[in-house]
Amino acid sequence: MSAAAPTTYAIRGGEDGARRLDLLAHTMAPTTEALLALVGVRPGMRCLDLGCGGGHVSRCLAGLVGATGVVVGLDFDPVKLDHATRASRERGLANTEFRAADVTGWREPESYDLAYGRFILSHLADRAAMLARLFEAVRPGGTLVLEDIDFSGSFCWPANEGYALYCRLYESVIRRRGGDANAGGQLYGLCVDAGFGEVQVRIVQPVHDGRCDAKALSLITLANIADAVLAEGLATADELEAAIAALRAFTDDPRTLVGFPRIFQVWGRRPTASSRPVG
Ligand SMILES: C[S@@+](CC[C@H](N)C(=O)[O-])C[C@H]1O[C@@H](n2cnc3c(N)ncnc32)[C@H](O)[C@@H]1O
Repeated sequence: MSAAAPTTYAIRGGEDGARRLDLLAHTMAPTTEALLALVGVRPGMRCLDLGCGGGHVSRCLAGLVGATGVVVGLDFDPVKLDHATRASRERGLANTEFRAADVTGWREPESYDLAYGRFILSHLADRAAMLARLFEAVRPGGTLVLEDIDFSGSFCWPANEGYALYCRLYESVIRRRGGDANAGGQLYGLCVDAGFGEVQVRIVQPVHDGRCDAKALSLITLANIADAVLAEGLATADELEAAIAALRAFTDDPRTLVGFPRIFQVWGRRPTASSRPVG
């Protein structure tokens, strides 16, 4: 399968995008690893990482499924896939496979024991159709695990106009590109509607203080949506520059807190023929 051009994706791809995902993965590692421990990833499983980016979660899954398992990562950004492939090779992980694909046109019926997707559904226009394809891709008895953002739950302390503008621009640009930055809250209902059973939900929300590197994630994200914000006419170059300067000063202040959006973690099981309600 050849890579489709990521024309609608609002966040800068390529090397800049790959570096941003390294920081994002570092922030998310504790809560994502706890989630995977909770849902139960076992040796020998065949797993999917939908919109895998630099393959951070794919590598975590690869460690859990071991040499008898397989992890397939799908993404349409060839630069990130290249990073993912190299990182797996450097760690000697022979059980990962990264493929270029636009997930909106992808189908692999009954191929996975577990399908996982982090921060991908919020970028897609037809989330119900994606859930239908994920239901189809998971084998009966298999598990779906999703994590996604709810930007309406973003916060910082104290209040800051640069941060507030960042949140408004992020929500607007994602909407213009067909996604929804508040999709996290929809995941539970989408999973139930798609036919998954035993659906459960949990909320996590990282926050950064002092001068840690990850505190700059919101600032870096604002810089990485700049091209799309300008292309969509949501702000002028001067307004963007002022917002970036304001958010940089706020981020550099060791007394401030920069929060993440609220993140929904949702998981459920595809029923087997015998577990389906009769009638
Ligand atoms: C916010 S990043 C998350 C990456 C990874 N899941 C993680 O949590 O580190 C979203 C990823 O989805 C990919 N993506 C967005 N839309 C896509 C599509 N239609 N098909 C394939 N990949 C897509 C982007 O290239 C990007 O790598």
